[in-house]
Amino acid sequence: MLSPLASNEGILVTAAIRDITVRKGSEAQLVKKVEELKRSNEELEHFANIASHDLQEPLRMVASYTQLLSRRYKGRLDSDADDYIAFAVDGASRMQRLIQDLLAYSRVGTKGQELLPTSSEDALSQSLRNLRGAIEERSASVTHDPLPMVLADETQLVQLFQNLIGNAIKYKESGQPHVHISAVKNHTMWKFAVKDDGLGIDPQYFERIFGMFQRLHKREEYAGTGIGLAICKKIIERHGGTITVQSKLGEGSTFTFNLSDSEATA
Ligand SMILES: Nc1ncnc2c1ncn2[C@@H]1O[C@H](COP(=O)(O)OP(=O)(O)OP(=O)(O)O)[C@@H](O)[C@H]1O
Ligand SMILES: [Mg+2]
Repeated sequence: MLSPLASNEGILVTAAIRDITVRKGSEAQLVKKVEELKRSNEELEHFANIASHDLQEPLRMVASYTQLLSRRYKGRLDSDADDYIAFAVDGASRMQRLIQDLLAYSRVGTKGQELLPTSSEDALSQSLRNLRGAIEERSASVTHDPLPMVLADETQLVQLFQNLIGNAIKYKESGQPHVHISAVKNHTMWKFAVKDDGLGIDPQYFERIFGMFQRLHKREEYAGTGIGLAICKKIIERHGGTITVQSKLGEGSTFTFNLSDSEATA
């Protein structure tokens, strides 16, 4: 016969086993949920990709025929008809831009390349070449510290700099924009900062501006669809980092993001 002590131990062991079983069960449930979430994200991404890709063709028809109507019949119907056609042309070209942006957003995930040792300074130079038009138009001064080698998808790093610096130049009411890019090492990560002397952002909008199609300015004041920062966020998250902004209205903004040093996993 078991002593009371041994039977107590038996109860404890049984309870512990039950505890482990329950924990294992909930761990397995969690893994299942994560997998489901991953799959539904992938499906959503796939859907956005297909939808935006396939919508382009019929939309091209609408856009080109409304443009043709506008060219051929402007001034030959009445002034209301001219207005209606102009609204249709404007609506179609805006929709084209939105669809292209949606496609660009979904491609961050579907067309992403392997993260490889990449010169962030070269990526910056490429982005400045792409922004040459805007830089010249506003006589912008863009300076930078020596920038490091990081683990990145080079095309996406160019895209990231291009969106942030493009915004830094665009969101300045008047005068010469000054933009500075720096990087500071923190353990195995580099913290980059893109600092401007533009309009600044009210802190209540710090999160919102990284959402899709979220803008703080009217289209008539500053052109854009509001996808640039959402793309930046998606790029940085794909690289395992985060992106944030610090700013005060009227005092410029600093966007910071982090990337792994190129030696981090070498
Ligand atoms: N450097 C900045 N200074 C002030 N406001 C900014 C700055 N960068 C972004 N914003 C604000 O955040 C909003 C979202 O920026 P985002 O780059 O996503 O879109 P966009 O510039 O409006 O359009 P897109 O980049 O798609 O052409 C902008 O509309 C603007 O109101
Ligand atoms: Mg932008």
